[in-house]
Amino acid sequence: MKALSQFRIWKAFAAMNLVVVMQAVTSADFNELFQANWAPDHIATQGDQTVLSLDSSTGCGFESKKKYLFGKAKAQLKLIQGDSAGTVTAFYMASEGPNHDELDFEFLGNVTGEPYIVQTNLYINGTGNREQRHYLWFDPTLDFHAYSFLWNRRSILFLVDDIPIREFSNKEKKGVPYPKSQPMGIHGSLWNADDWATQGGRVKTNWSNAPFEATFQSFEIDACELSPIGADDPRVKCGKSGQFWWDKPVVKEVSKQRKKQLKWIHDNFLIYDYCQDVARFADGIPKECHLE
Ligand SMILES: *[C@@H]1O[C@H](CO)[C@@H](O)[C@H](O)[C@H]1NC(C)=O
Ligand SMILES: *[C@@H]1O[C@H](CO)[C@@H](O)[C@H](O)[C@H]1NC(C)=O
Ligand SMILES: *[C@@H]1O[C@H](CO)[C@@H](O)[C@H](O)[C@H]1NC(C)=O
Repeated sequence: MKALSQFRIWKAFAAMNLVVVMQAVTSADFNELFQANWAPDHIATQGDQTVLSLDSSTGCGFESKKKYLFGKAKAQLKLIQGDSAGTVTAFYMASEGPNHDELDFEFLGNVTGEPYIVQTNLYINGTGNREQRHYLWFDPTLDFHAYSFLWNRRSILFLVDDIPIREFSNKEKKGVPYPKSQPMGIHGSLWNADDWATQGGRVKTNWSNAPFEATFQSFEIDACELSPIGADDPRVKCGKSGQFWWDKPVVKEVSKQRKKQLKWIHDNFLIYDYCQDVARFADGIPKECHLE
């Protein structure tokens, strides 16, 4: 008995030390927050900017050193200029393991002068297939624009320049799974996906235009940070409700404004929604699609 309770105290103490809340950490130094996890020689940092490059030999990628459970993660991206057909630039969050959770922004390149597509997706407990595709209301190759995830226990928002383009609400009470217990890393990558990315895979990457370069800058991570992973149950600290700003109830005005913006995006920029893709889901469209 005694040994057990001492163990419990130790566990509680360890949990306190494992969690540090970060307030809007910005990336003066990319290397403080991130590390390359694929082809480091194709990633160059220049001041605040990090340039990912893709050529016929390889793409590349990076991930955060820490993992996060709930909060906001934001980065500014300037996508590949000119011919970017066949390429995908990604900014995403993902946990580890076979039943992983993941939130994606994937930017599907195009031939010169034709529009990029931003594809968003969610994996929950290892299952994805929740793609939406949008055009943007600006040319994402000319300037930096901000892309962010705002994740709490009620919903996940995908934002572009702080305008929500997609909301995934927690419908656990109705039996729809929701990511809430696996801490996620923050990732960026650039790779060749010419089997599917551009005009359904019809347009291939033109390697004579390589290297293809996408630039990331101004990372902001305001999230519940866990380090190291695995030593304790992350829900103990990050899961407690009402502790962080992202857990606070949304004021009515904000939610009204958000609904308006989502509708504007939906009506003007949505080009694909898995929820409408009857042909794709033989057993009927996923449950979350027809629950309010
Ligand atoms: C996750 O998926 C596995 C099967 O792959 C299942 O056994 C488990 O219950 C699921 N967990 C949740 C929380 O739905
Ligand atoms: C590329 O341009 C074509 C023609 O405008 C368009 O149909 C397509 O949606 C664009 N984006 C991608 C990624 O294929
Ligand atoms: C590939 O790019 C080069 C250089 O821009 C161009 O001359 C060539 O026509 C392109 N090839 C195709 C198949 O579009």
